[in-house]
Amino acid sequence: MSASRVPQQLDRRLALDLVRVTESAAVAAAVLRGRGDEQSADEAAIAAAHRELAHMAISGRVVIGEGVEGEVPHLFIGQSVGAGGETVDIAADALEGTTLCAKNMPGSIAVMVLAAPGSLLNAPPVYMDKVAIGPGYPAGVVSLTASPEDNIRALAQAKGVSPSEITALVLDRPRHAALIAAVRAVGASVKLITDGDVAGIIHTTNPRDSGVDIYLGIGGAPEGVLAAAALRCIGGQMQGRLILDTEAKRSLAKALGIRDFTKVYDLEEMVRGDCLVAATGVTDGALLHGVRFGRDMVETDTLLMRAATGTVRHIATQHRDLDKFQLDA
Ligand code: FBP
Repeated sequence: MSASRVPQQLDRRLALDLVRVTESAAVAAAVLRGRGDEQSADEAAIAAAHRELAHMAISGRVVIGEGVEGEVPHLFIGQSVGAGGETVDIAADALEGTTLCAKNMPGSIAVMVLAAPGSLLNAPPVYMDKVAIGPGYPAGVVSLTASPEDNIRALAQAKGVSPSEITALVLDRPRHAALIAAVRAVGASVKLITDGDVAGIIHTTNPRDSGVDIYLGIGGAPEGVLAAAALRCIGGQMQGRLILDTEAKRSLAKALGIRDFTKVYDLEEMVRGDCLVAATGVTDGALLHGVRFGRDMVETDTLLMRAATGTVRHIATQHRDLDKFQLDA
């Protein structure tokens, strides 16, 4: 399950326009940072992202969206977006970490993926069991079919350190009590996050700065595909398994063309072709600065990634044309 480059398909000139989308979403959400209102922040980010996408030279189809038609006004699964142009699939999370934004805690981001048509796993809004590590390890060193203890030991051996020098990032949830105990039992350290596992998984790609070697545990399936797209660009390994433990969830999956309800997806099966990924910080975090509001200027901080080449750009933007954000609307 090693990350390999994909053949180029997408026009790279779309990348900067994609940055404008996540920048606008991040600014709209950041206005509502710390207000304790997840829904308003989410809605503002979605509306801003949708507005920017409408200007893009794409014929886009939302495959990972903000909900189903009728439930959300914009960016629902199946919605067509864009001004016309290259045909692309879109995975959108205009505000990832809504609670982090509402509480003004570190790590909320706006994230958007443009992908070659048909190349993204159409993940339903269910949970996904995930394991992810960064680049530089032999293929298959960790796996969802192995125990957490075995994954930690194998990763430590591949890194040439003892398990006590491995740190696993895990969402702080009661469902992870046994997982956390298992990781600690083998001598590794557990770093807990309250939300935001897209950024969490991206952290595995830079253990030196993030202090995170491996992501383990259950989070949202749509977020899993977004994180997989980022790893497809930066490198790394990831597996995901949808948790389809009720008939209702299985029907959701079936409607999206999923037949094998227990399948373990490799990175290359979650993101099969070229993609562009942009992520802009909403609140300050270890990955990205949050939006900064000045008197006449707004500053944003974005990662822009491209699978075809593995290029990762870190874009610090100063915005002086503030009307474009429609903050008074
Ligand atoms: P939202 O932005 O939709 O609030 O998701 C935040 C998040 O923490 C994701 O990063 C994660 O995948 C998921 O929620 C975990 O779900 P749950 O909070 O139900 O455990």
